[in-house]
Amino acid sequence: MGGSRSGDLLSIVKASAPGKIILFGEHAVVYNRPALAVPVTQIHVDVEVCDSDSAGIWIHAPVIDLRAELSTLPSDHPIASVILGLLPSPPAPLPLGEGRRGEGGIEIHISSTIPVASGLGSGAAVSVALIRALSSHLQKPLTNEKINELVYETEKLYHGTPSGIDNTVITYNMPVYFIKGQPIVTFQPGKPFTIVIGDTGIPAPTKESVGDVRRLWLRNTNHFEDIFNEIAQISLIARRAIESGKPEWLGELMDHNHALLQQLTVSSPELDKLAAAARDAGALGAKLSGGGRGGNMIALATQASAESVAEALISAGAKRTIITEIK
Ligand code: PMV
Repeated sequence: MGGSRSGDLLSIVKASAPGKIILFGEHAVVYNRPALAVPVTQIHVDVEVCDSDSAGIWIHAPVIDLRAELSTLPSDHPIASVILGLLPSPPAPLPLGEGRRGEGGIEIHISSTIPVASGLGSGAAVSVALIRALSSHLQKPLTNEKINELVYETEKLYHGTPSGIDNTVITYNMPVYFIKGQPIVTFQPGKPFTIVIGDTGIPAPTKESVGDVRRLWLRNTNHFEDIFNEIAQISLIARRAIESGKPEWLGELMDHNHALLQQLTVSSPELDKLAAAARDAGALGAKLSGGGRGGNMIALATQASAESVAEALISAGAKRTIITEIK
């Protein structure tokens, strides 16, 4: 994760950040209920920052088809806002230190294997890796607490009213028991367990499902508060099950959480179909994960059943699966 420098003339700093998946509590977490999320290290964002001969700050992010100089981007562009937040104002002259050559600037290369807008934390991972690499390049490394704070501000540009769970799990790179506005609680599974992630391939902006849930909550507050309370209980029991080495209990909790998310109107026929296919293939439970309507679902499998659950998900229409061990 940390940065590294090499050579007198050329200085390259690298940093990376994992993807994430929410195990329990999405949506309810926006209303101050607890949620559980874990890092998914098979997918990640990698950022390289180096000095350049050309003036300006150049950003290359092929996965989002971005190749631009900082000043040509709007200041509320999520990547531009992260960079502007780290540079001393005004941005020029750039404090390039010993690696500076001529009228040189900075080149930032962002690559990612995290699918965009599908509940795997791509936006927060870009911000975390970018902040780590750039602050290290500027020789002003930041604490996790500060990084988390900065990324939360950027998350608002992506999501409107984010709970902060994505930035927290990705910054700390550990399972988190998250309650909005409360001190960060990370935790350790008592026994490793296997999750299969299935991607519907349908991009679903979290901002929209969160906005829809808010409108429904305003109309029928008591009913929605009851659902959020039930979800909170599930998150609480799930954390105990994980910590005490009883991950097999999570299956039933996932099914229950999925049913409550259906009541919040954030599931979809595709997500329901994948959850059912996973259960039929031997998963102990399944639910949508993240904002819903599209994006990803998760299933609890054993190491032995994970491959067949993943195959069943593909047969049922999943565009991609990831098998990940939570430990
Ligand atoms: O879709 P994701 O995984 O980025 O997460 C959304 C989680 C919500 O609870 C729906 C929103 C939030 O900000 O926590």
